Amino acid sequence: MKRPLIGTSWKMNLVPSRAEAYCTQLKPLVEDLHDRTVFVLPPFPAIPAAVQVLSGSNVLWGAQDVHPEDEGAHTGDVSAPMLADLGCTFVEVGHHERRRDYREDDALIAAKVAAAQRWGMTAILCVGEAARLPYGQAKAHVLVQLQFLDRFDQGKLVVAYEPAWAIGTGAEPAGVDWVASIHAVIGGRLREAAGPADPAAVIYGGSVDPARASDLISCPGVDGLFVGRAALKPEVLADIAHARLAARS
Ligand code: PGA
Repeated sequence: MKRPLIGTSWKMNLVPSRAEAYCTQLKPLVEDLHDRTVFVLPPFPAIPAAVQVLSGSNVLWGAQDVHPEDEGAHTGDVSAPMLADLGCTFVEVGHHERRRDYREDDALIAAKVAAAQRWGMTAILCVGEAARLPYGQAKAHVLVQLQFLDRFDQGKLVVAYEPAWAIGTGAEPAGVDWVASIHAVIGGRLREAAGPADPAAVIYGGSVDPARASDLISCPGVDGLFVGRAALKPEVLADIAHARLAARS
């Protein structure tokens, strides 16, 4: 049984001064959680506020994206050594919104995973089909998105299954049976890539809220939760982070 991983990407929300207040509020609300890992991924300018408030706490922080190269003439981009210097544990890559808005493909995303791992950080690689598909097609889709998996350091990797149709306002939340069936596919592929070592964790994201958190995190093959909108309130992230681990207890 893996240590559950529960976290949020704030996406493009919360200005740095609000980020400080968020982290200050969150910290005491989750300090009792010793059996799971909690993390926040603020936008780049708000990471220093997280560093300041969360250092020494049991909440880890990270970033929502990274450039594949370590330095150079890439105006507006942020590199892995910059994020490592800020003490980031996690770097999210390949979120649906980046694939959609910047046409990021699997090869570029793989280079970003490698950059994060080169600097000792854990890449959270997001996969998931853009529209509702029959099971066989959804399975094929996520396996294509994992095509570069064998190149990665399996010990510094988390895969987030986030079907785009289940993300955001008005989305259709994925059912637990569906989540379990796709997590089984991803988990199988991760076990294959890891060989005798521990496979990477697979977390679920898409319309996670306090009402569904416990059912989702208790699903076979679900090692944690990745939360968007609901976690813009620290007390709601704390609530989700306390989700009962029914199947594990
Ligand atoms: P949501 O976003 O929780 O707002 O649906 C999830 C995500 O994109 O990770």
